[in-house]
Amino acid sequence: MDGKLEKITSLAKRRGFIFPGSEIYGGLSGIYDYGPLGVELRHNIKQYFWDKFIAEREDVYGMSAAILMPTRVWEASGHTELFTDPLVECKICHERVRADQPEAIADHESAHKKDKGKMEWSEPKVFNLLVGTKLGASEKTASQVYLRGEITQGVHVNFKNILDSMHPKLPFGIGQIGKAFRNEITPRDFLFRQREFEQMELQYYLKPDEKTGKETFEYWKNFALDWYLGLGFKKESLRLRQHAENERAHYAKDAWDIEYNTPFAGWKEAWGIHHRGDWDLRRHSEYSGQDISYYDDETKERFIPWDIECSGGVDRAVLFVLSEAYTEDEMGGEARIYLKLASKIAPVKVAVFPLLKNKPELVAKAREVYSALKKEIPQMMFDDNGNIGKRYRRQDEIGTPWCVTIDFQTLEDSTVTVRDRDSGKQERKNIAEIGEYFESML
Ligand code: GAP
Repeated sequence: MDGKLEKITSLAKRRGFIFPGSEIYGGLSGIYDYGPLGVELRHNIKQYFWDKFIAEREDVYGMSAAILMPTRVWEASGHTELFTDPLVECKICHERVRADQPEAIADHESAHKKDKGKMEWSEPKVFNLLVGTKLGASEKTASQVYLRGEITQGVHVNFKNILDSMHPKLPFGIGQIGKAFRNEITPRDFLFRQREFEQMELQYYLKPDEKTGKETFEYWKNFALDWYLGLGFKKESLRLRQHAENERAHYAKDAWDIEYNTPFAGWKEAWGIHHRGDWDLRRHSEYSGQDISYYDDETKERFIPWDIECSGGVDRAVLFVLSEAYTEDEMGGEARIYLKLASKIAPVKVAVFPLLKNKPELVAKAREVYSALKKEIPQMMFDDNGNIGKRYRRQDEIGTPWCVTIDFQTLEDSTVTVRDRDSGKQERKNIAEIGEYFESML
């Protein structure tokens, strides 16, 4: 590790992307809050998912299910029984650590080595990750429910509703984005392993058939990888890796991860593609007592479809995008930090500055340019704080691809300077053409 994660975490806080959750009260481990820029970046990533996996496709429907679901759902999906991690307890301080994470064990042991404690661990125990809560007005009548441990089940329990309301023909998909909760034993690495996080998922249903199943799996594996590359990753920063049999979740017949070569912990999972077979729909049929089968009009067959799942973490994408984009270089003889974000996900696309804050005619012109552009490109920023060099540095650090400066020449010939984030190059352009220019670049 070269301290890059610390640098990213610090930039994220300093520049209003991500804060430790409820920080003034000391916070909660594995919980984060998004600030003004982080929420725009996250929104852009989710929008890109929604466009590519759902809105632009004829064979996929979007939906949004509730976070709270009856316990029976989680019994059916296998999560109450099987959604577990092995944990061991330190006999010195009673802290619990994931037994299958050598780095967490090593961190803990080295802390005790410093205070010369003799390390001993308990036997591993299984620990369920579902986060529970109670619903109901009195202790007696309140019922135990769970916050969803994955957003997936909200789709499966609505499969019949989608069939009855939309009458889709197989193969078709249902996608959604939303929060999931896991009582992770050792939340770590900033947004990497959190206890509350967001997922973006597609469940793609098809008629059970080995050959079509394999082809469909291949298709979505490559689709998800292309999508991830579209966030601005270098090809060599991502790879696909198949899970060994003993690594697979309880529901998966086959599973692959898109992994990112993180600058802080090497190759780590960014996204999972799972062949869930008929596990979920079959179990929900059994546990709910409802018929969740599909009737094929053409072949006159009734069956339970298979499901190929694409499941990505939104916050993990935010962290990986920041890690990939974080760059240190030198410009004009000075060290600088900048985020080389793809323009489509940058939280601010264009920043507009008056050259001097105390010249009303420059400020008025800059305001006019800003307001006109903002109608077309909502993610904009007006900045007149500090000198122009400082403003460029600030925009570089938040990944703004272009800055527009209004100076005295603007008042004479209606041209502005447009500065490019990566190269620092400045070009003069006519005000009348910059709207079209930015839209073409975006
Ligand atoms: N529905 C399948 C499912 O939930 P998963 O591999 O457990 O599969 C999918 O999770 C994605 O959700 C992961 O690839 C990761 O990006 C994200 N994710 C999982 N646990 C997370 C956590 N504790 N914090 C942040 N993101 C997480």
